[in-house]
Amino acid sequence: MNHSSNDTQAVKLTGEEVAKHNTREDCWVIINGRAYDVTEFMPEHPGGPKIILKYAGKDGTEEYAPIHPPDTLDKYLDKSKHLGEVDMSTVQQEEKKEDPDEAERQERIQRMPILEQCYNLMDFEAVARRVMKKTAWAYYSSGADDEITMRENHSAYHKIWFRPRVLVNVESIDTSTTMLGTKVSIPFYVTATALGKLGNPEGEVVLTRGAKKHNVIQMIPTLASCSFDEIVDAKEGDQVQWLQLYVNKDRAITKKIIEHAEKRGCKGLFITVDAPQLGRREKDMRSKFSDVGSNVQNTGGDNVDRSQGAARAISSFIDPSLSWKDIPWFLSVTKMPILLKGVQRVEDVIQAIAAGVHGVVLSNHGGRQLDFARSGIEVLAEVMPELRRLGLDKKIEIYVDGGVRRATDIIKALCLGATGVGIGRPFLYAMSAYGLPGVDRAMQLLKDEMEMNMRLIGCSSVDELGPDLVDTRGLSMHTTTITDTLGLNVYDPLVGPQEKARL
Ligand SMILES: Cc1cc2nc3c(=O)[nH]c(=O)nc-3n(C[C@H](O)[C@H](O)[C@H](O)COP(=O)(O)O)c2cc1C
Repeated sequence: MNHSSNDTQAVKLTGEEVAKHNTREDCWVIINGRAYDVTEFMPEHPGGPKIILKYAGKDGTEEYAPIHPPDTLDKYLDKSKHLGEVDMSTVQQEEKKEDPDEAERQERIQRMPILEQCYNLMDFEAVARRVMKKTAWAYYSSGADDEITMRENHSAYHKIWFRPRVLVNVESIDTSTTMLGTKVSIPFYVTATALGKLGNPEGEVVLTRGAKKHNVIQMIPTLASCSFDEIVDAKEGDQVQWLQLYVNKDRAITKKIIEHAEKRGCKGLFITVDAPQLGRREKDMRSKFSDVGSNVQNTGGDNVDRSQGAARAISSFIDPSLSWKDIPWFLSVTKMPILLKGVQRVEDVIQAIAAGVHGVVLSNHGGRQLDFARSGIEVLAEVMPELRRLGLDKKIEIYVDGGVRRATDIIKALCLGATGVGIGRPFLYAMSAYGLPGVDRAMQLLKDEMEMNMRLIGCSSVDELGPDLVDTRGLSMHTTTITDTLGLNVYDPLVGPQEKARL
């Protein structure tokens, strides 16, 4: 029987029929009430064949939906493989294996602190950790290897102290600034973080709405769980968005993504340059391994084991051969300003200026890539004096991200010469725990902190922030101390054998 999408008859497939196609050689899956023949596609699946095989002949929607934008199958699976609607009443419901943690998690959700009890960005993290699904928490919170850089990102800000001015008129404070030509209310932007639907069923559009409310810019990730168009459609009025780009080996695909983003009004292209391969995020890998049913060896004959957590599953689109030689091509295909995201030393900032890009983000990807990469704020302190010495400091805009949790962190970055800072995890945590009201409150808390601390430092507008207001002498000390409670709370070691009674 031909069930191709050209088939106009409204005959629905039955669950029984789909269930027959349950092998590597003949594999159908059901996604959102429709059946797809993924036999040929399986070896190319960025997440590897194993996860598809798990749902061969079955409904895989629950696993699929948080990771894939809704237009994925239309974009990547040939139309001839779209088999049509399935009568879902005939699909055998999988008997769900009881997840022993889920009941407890639901109970914790009932006992969540009310939103007004969150007074700072770390509070959202503490709540999110207790109420998010384990796999989602693992993906968001993990860093590379020993998570030293992830912790350092945050603690580096603790090594910078203020030299405030007194007796300055600070009656009215203006926290607004301009980023790539856009006037924003406060000098932070929502940086790109993949897989928003792991934390909130609505995904990245929640961040879009929060950014609108507070007049800040959102950077859209290439690997969002909402489709790019859904995120752009969610913006309102003259709201500004940027695009974060993972460069695909197939430059035609990359070009299409860039052109589409420009057409849809994106005002900046941030090419991620710190991820030729995604880092080993062991917490993420571990949580996948303990997933019910997935604790099996990969015997699929696939030479890359992609069963290693959400991060590795989505990474195979990234081109490791990307180099400085490619920059002129990017500049030739778009009028959007181009920025390199993930620059980590002054030499590369100077090379970026020579290459003609419009800016850089001093970033180590939130400590998720190279462990022992220095914090963005430390690199900034290295970069700016050298650029000033060379007369290059006005040539490009310099952004910094990683570990920004307080408005004092933002102020420190601006004092050292950044145009603005990117903030990632805190908004994910706020969104996961409390949805849009959480994101709204997180941004408002930062605004309130910003106004107060600008006043206390003796500056009424951001252009008054400068290096004379900070003492950075401690910045080159690379130690993680026990005052770094964020890190100590976040790292999850391997859980050893349990007592029999607890198994
Ligand atoms: C869950 C998560 C997903 C991320 N996904 C991406 C991504 O797809 N592309 C990218 O360039 N950076 C990505 N990043 C890095 C962020 O853009 C940013 O560099 C980092 O989160 C900043 O650190 P912070 O989380 O401490 O604020 C991700 C970070 C997190 C936490």
